[in-house]
Amino acid sequence: MPAAAPQGEHLSDDRPSERLQLSPAVTPQYSLKQLALSRYHACWYQLGKRLAWSRGIYREQPAHQLHHLSGIHRERIASLQRRFRVRFEQHVKQTTALKQYDYLDILDQAWSAWKLPRLIGGSVQDIGSSNFWYAHALHAFFQPVEMVGIEVEGHRIYLDGYSRLDYAQGYIQHLSNTRFFIGDYTCYHDSADVVTAWYPFVTPGPVLSWRMPLSVLAPEALFSRVAQNLPPHGLFIMVNQSREEAAIGATWCEKAGLTRHGLCVLKATLRSRLPAVASYWMHSHT
Ligand SMILES: C[S@@+](CC[C@H](N)C(=O)[O-])C[C@H]1O[C@@H](n2cnc3c(N)ncnc32)[C@H](O)[C@@H]1O
Repeated sequence: MPAAAPQGEHLSDDRPSERLQLSPAVTPQYSLKQLALSRYHACWYQLGKRLAWSRGIYREQPAHQLHHLSGIHRERIASLQRRFRVRFEQHVKQTTALKQYDYLDILDQAWSAWKLPRLIGGSVQDIGSSNFWYAHALHAFFQPVEMVGIEVEGHRIYLDGYSRLDYAQGYIQHLSNTRFFIGDYTCYHDSADVVTAWYPFVTPGPVLSWRMPLSVLAPEALFSRVAQNLPPHGLFIMVNQSREEAAIGATWCEKAGLTRHGLCVLKATLRSRLPAVASYWMHSHT
């Protein structure tokens, strides 16, 4: 039964503004403009958190059919639909459905590049899920017995008055065993067979572009929590938006005691975006 877990569960602390910063060796010097923006975003972040506003479950109008697809896109989507038995457009609008096919395509391409057997029926944690619009794609790929999306700014309010939590509840409403959890992953103590992170923050630019305070940039704490939550057989899947971000993420993974077992650069097939760099990691001693 999908449900949004109450804030506080699994958390030992939830104060990103007081958490550790980057390690001294790599502490960046922020400009005054960056610091001012960070302060501004911190105010909105704190306000959202205090208000914990909800307008009720957001129910996206389904597209039912996909329109205006090129031949290549149509073929690729048809193949994903057949193999994963999904029709995202029956639940969401076309733009969301195309993004969902895109994430499913990234997983599918990465898995075949890594020659990994499909992992079906384990527990899955997704870090930094935004409003969990891609939950259905993860669910189709992993068919989990349990899945949770963890988002530190789950109370962000959109212009239409709905919050990320409202959207997330809509996106997961038909997915079995799936939850959306509002909290800081660095304080999330629970294990999972698979941990995924789609575009985790490892440099300040994306943090500010996502309208977050720089205090959430805590890669050392984030990746060491991944390592602690991952059992010996567990997989950590990281997707980064450039080779540079992937290299920085890789340094933090290694520092946390993880070893890379596969890496691939995936050209966008379904959306116009930068190539995604996907990698998978396990504990170094396994
Ligand atoms: C670049 S966005 C990616 C969002 C989403 N994964 C996607 O692919 O659309 C990173 C997200 O991670 C969230 N985040 C950052 N640090 C976090 C933390 N410590 N715990 C949970 N969420 C976090 C941010 O609020 C933001 O929504």
